[in-house]
Amino acid sequence: MKQARPLIVRALSNETVERPPVWFMRQAGRYLPEYRALRAEHSFLTMCHSPELAAEVTLQPLRRYPFDAGIVFSDILLPLECMGAELEYVPGTGPIIRNPVRTAADVAALKPFDPLRDLPSPMETIRICTQEADVPILGFAGAPFTMACYMIDGQGSRNWPETKRMMFGQPKVFQALLDRLADAVGDHLQAQVDAGAVGVQLFDTWAGALSPDDFRRWALPASRRALARVSGAPRMFFTKDSAPFLPWLKALEADAYALDWRVDIGAARKLLGDVAVQGNMDPMALHAPHDEIRRRVRKIIAAAGPKGHIFNLGHGLTPDIDPQAVGVAVDEVCGWSWS
Ligand code: CP3
Repeated sequence: MKQARPLIVRALSNETVERPPVWFMRQAGRYLPEYRALRAEHSFLTMCHSPELAAEVTLQPLRRYPFDAGIVFSDILLPLECMGAELEYVPGTGPIIRNPVRTAADVAALKPFDPLRDLPSPMETIRICTQEADVPILGFAGAPFTMACYMIDGQGSRNWPETKRMMFGQPKVFQALLDRLADAVGDHLQAQVDAGAVGVQLFDTWAGALSPDDFRRWALPASRRALARVSGAPRMFFTKDSAPFLPWLKALEADAYALDWRVDIGAARKLLGDVAVQGNMDPMALHAPHDEIRRRVRKIIAAAGPKGHIFNLGHGLTPDIDPQAVGVAVDEVCGWSWS
């Protein structure tokens, strides 16, 4: 039965709810044997670009667990391909861009991104899943700074040396790239809302690599620009290692802030003000004994309070996590009652 105003929408709207809604970042993925079985037959990109397959993967965790939302199966880097990046997913290495952006000419040569024309599969996947699932579906995109990191360095990195070389050495070129990406990902989020996503999350996974000054100078205004293009559904903002940035996050004007596990969620709420929060269990805590998982879930819920909290992990589920442990955590959240 579909609810008129789903729990997740009420919590994202910062309302007081009977228990926190729960979904997990990377809830569709390699920790699930049914994902690995499908993945053995198709490449990751094929799965992302085939709405029927992407819908199947989106629905897999929803069949196993009583999650309060699905997240569309896709990847943050797909719009970069549409803009001209030669993107590959190399097993063991992760995503690689063979033609990284390094100069003003490279930025000028990027193609405009029109989500409906260039990348229709996430929207079609959202439509299918909205029909088939009992719970609402969330959309997402990568934040401009995090997208720029992959575009410039060309692959995952701890320090993002090429990105920072451009940021410090060619600030105008870097700004032009962020502006292009902000508009692209903002439009991508809006297209997903228009397709039926009840909320959208912007992932600024690597903004934690910035000093607080550089975060405020570069990543924050770029994400604000992206989020400002989106209306009609709550907008969540996620960044890892965000503790030093908490006093400034409000300026993003997001509807909810997703926190990693390095902050106390109650203390973070005091710094953020009266806004919804999401999080923030250490994904590796799912390796703890089951009673310890349950204890940690309860501690986070109690610290966050009854108003506007969405239970989630502080980062995505990883392939090493036991599907049974995921069930234990979700069960504990669903058993909570504030009344
Ligand atoms: O959350 C979900 O279940 C929805 C799908 C989703 C994926 N990636 C699927 C995926 C989402 C929301 C993402 C976001 C994403 N992708 C981020 C931001 C969030 C985060 O986790 O930090 C980033 C940085 C990426 C880029 C990316 N995609 C990397 C670094 C990798 C390789 C590393 C890895 O985890 O495998 C991917 C590939 C990827 N994206 C996989 C999945 C299920 C694995 C692909 C496979 O099956 O081989």
